[in-house]
Amino acid sequence: MKAKNHLELTHVSIDFPTDTGPFRALDDVSLKIDKGQFITLIGHSGCGKSTVLNIVAGLHRATAGGVILNGREVSEPGPERAVVFQNHSLLPWLSAYENVELGVKQVFKGKKSRAEMRQWIDHNLELVHMSHARDKRPDEISGGMKQRVGIARALAMQPEVLLMDEPFGALDALTRAHLQDSLMEIHAALGNTVIMITHDVDEAVLLSDRIVMMTNGPAATIGEVLEIELERPRERLALADDPQYNHYRSDVLRFLYERQKRPGEELAPDSDSTAATDSNSQPIAEGDKTQENIALRVVSN
Ligand SMILES: Nc1ncnc2c1ncn2[C@@H]1O[C@H](COP(=O)(O)OP(=O)(O)O)[C@@H](O)[C@H]1O
Ligand SMILES: [Mg+2]
Repeated sequence: MKAKNHLELTHVSIDFPTDTGPFRALDDVSLKIDKGQFITLIGHSGCGKSTVLNIVAGLHRATAGGVILNGREVSEPGPERAVVFQNHSLLPWLSAYENVELGVKQVFKGKKSRAEMRQWIDHNLELVHMSHARDKRPDEISGGMKQRVGIARALAMQPEVLLMDEPFGALDALTRAHLQDSLMEIHAALGNTVIMITHDVDEAVLLSDRIVMMTNGPAATIGEVLEIELERPRERLALADDPQYNHYRSDVLRFLYERQKRPGEELAPDSDSTAATDSNSQPIAEGDKTQENIALRVVSN
């Protein structure tokens, strides 16, 4: 039986200090997540998705409300909540193996022998299909491969909760599809709770148990939550013609482009996901600039 209330956000609000006074980015965000659920957060750029994730990661402190994981309040980063960012944030001078090792040492030092750690690192590189490139440095591998290593590093910490901030946003469609399939396999095998941010409507429907749709900021909150009751394992080709799948997809598009339509923004010309997928052209939000530093903190804390 699934444990209820494994992860809970309760009336979370946050004010960021700015030159003109406090800026309320999130207002009264509440969400209960069961163990092993796959949640995606979707919403227009700047609405506060990363801020939600960073609060769950313990990188930001809510101004009001809070996050409870397994009955304990989240107040700082912890290895049971691993984070994967869009820009992989691998250390450039370390090989794929050594980057994963960094996370493994943090969690398993004194608990696993050196041989066990070596085996565990290799196992996680295998999970993301990266064994063949274990000794390559980030500048010697493609963007998709870097993301795989980033995911391996996160998984190798055996986190209960995997937090992913647009992990595939910078990748081409084909690479993204491969990584989505790998992620579905891994999730089926390991059963981690996942919160993933995406701009891609198809990605959200394909991967999620629930899609959490956020209203536009400031003072953004949860607008709607869509339960995705498609059987697993899911297969993208079969789903393309599935009426239920397409129904979910339209629900999300309607939320984004009708209910949360932003002034000056044209409605998507048709129900093509490319209109909603355009994450590469989004301006970098303030919070994102520090991603690498944050990632280093998460890994080295
Ligand atoms: N550290 C910060 N200081 C001030 N404002 C911030 C900070 N981090 C984020 N914001 C603001 O909060 C809002 C939500 O940002 P963010 O969570 O990055 O949005 P999203 O991830 O949905 O694109 C934006 O208006 C952004 O400029
Ligand atoms: Mg963001």
